[in-house]
This record gives sequence, C-alpha cells and structure tokens, in this order.
Amino acid sequence: MTEINYERADLEACGVPRRFLDVLYGEMKDTEAIKVARKHAKDVARGACLVLSGPVGVGKTVAAVRLLRWLYQRRICGLFRGAAEVSRENISKLADVPALILDDFGQERFSQDTEYLLELRHARVMPTVITTNLTLDAVKRAYGERLVDRFREWAIFYELKGTSLRRKET
Ligand SMILES: Nc1ncnc2c1ncn2[C@@H]1O[C@H](COP(=O)(O)OP(=O)(O)O)[C@@H](O)[C@H]1O
Ligand SMILES: [Mg+2]
Repeated sequence: MTEINYERADLEACGVPRRFLDVLYGEMKDTEAIKVARKHAKDVARGACLVLSGPVGVGKTVAAVRLLRWLYQRRICGLFRGAAEVSRENISKLADVPALILDDFGQERFSQDTEYLLELRHARVMPTVITTNLTLDAVKRAYGERLVDRFREWAIFYELKGTSLRRKET
C-alpha cells in the first residue's frame, strides 16, 4: 500500500490548491520568495503580516504555502484563501483563523471586505501572509491611507523582482 502523506492531506484541507502542493512536495527551488518567507517565518508566527508583492510567476504563492507548512509544523494551523473568496459570510471565520494566507490580494471585486478582514487581523496581531501584484504605492491608490498605515506598523512589505518561473508543462 502506498503511504499516505498526512501533512500534505492536512494542507489540502486548509484550502491549498493541488498545483502548489505538487511544487511543495516536488523539487523546490530556493527562490527569492522562498528566502524571504524563511527569513520572516518567525515574525509571522508572532503575529506579523508578510506581504509578498511582485510580478506574476515569481513564486509568491509557492513561498506563502511553504510558510503555511512551516507554521503547520509548529502547530499553528491556517487557511489558504484567494482574496476573491472573501465575503461577508466568511469574514469572521477568516479573521479568527490562527494563520491566514490571502492569495492575490487586489484581484477581488469587493475590496471593502478584504480591507476589513485585514483590519481585524491587524488589531488581533494574527499571523498573515499576503501575495499580491500590487506595489505599496498601488495598494495606497486602491485602498487608501488607512490600510497602508496599518501595514506600516504590522507588515513586512517585500517587493520581489524577476521573471516568471512558470514553464509550459510537457
Ligand atoms: N520554489 C519553487 N520551486 C520550484 N518551482 C517553483 C517555485 N516557486 C514557483 N515555482 C514555479 O513557478 C510557478 C509559479 O509560481 P507561483 O508561486 O504560482 O507564482 P506567483 O504566485 O508569484 O504568480 C509554479 O507553478 C511553479 O511551477
Ligand atoms: Mg500567485
């Protein structure tokens, strides 16, 4: 019988899409995003917010999921959600979960919900990782000074550079 990877199954139950688990349990490269996630893992565990900002395909989501795994191994359980999935109905659950990966922040249509969610997590000092294509300036333009001011206090805002790691699957 093939062995069950319980850790992988648990991360899948946290909402991590399979594509990222395949990378996580495959041949992981030490990308800039992974290095940043590793460097700030303890800060996140203590309740900071890590924002991985950058162009598409530089490995932001993979790095965020790597960090979720690191937290999971330290008994901080979390959820992975796309920012577009945040709604009135799930906001209190997402505000309370010990760790939250908010993927593709800035892609959602109802930005007030994600903004409020982040306000709650900032107030509660809760481990949070955000991936986004928005620079800090663009966040300011889209969400305003209120959120950016909270980020100044709470977030490690990291602007990644580089070109897409995505390759055509053969
Ligand atoms: N650390 C890594 N090791 C190996 N491949 C990676 C790594 N990070 C990203 N990739 C590859 O690049 C693709 C895009 O990564 P992803 O994290 O989705 O980028 P982003 O969120 O920045 O758009 C992944 O599907 C995977 O094929
Ligand atoms: Mg992504």
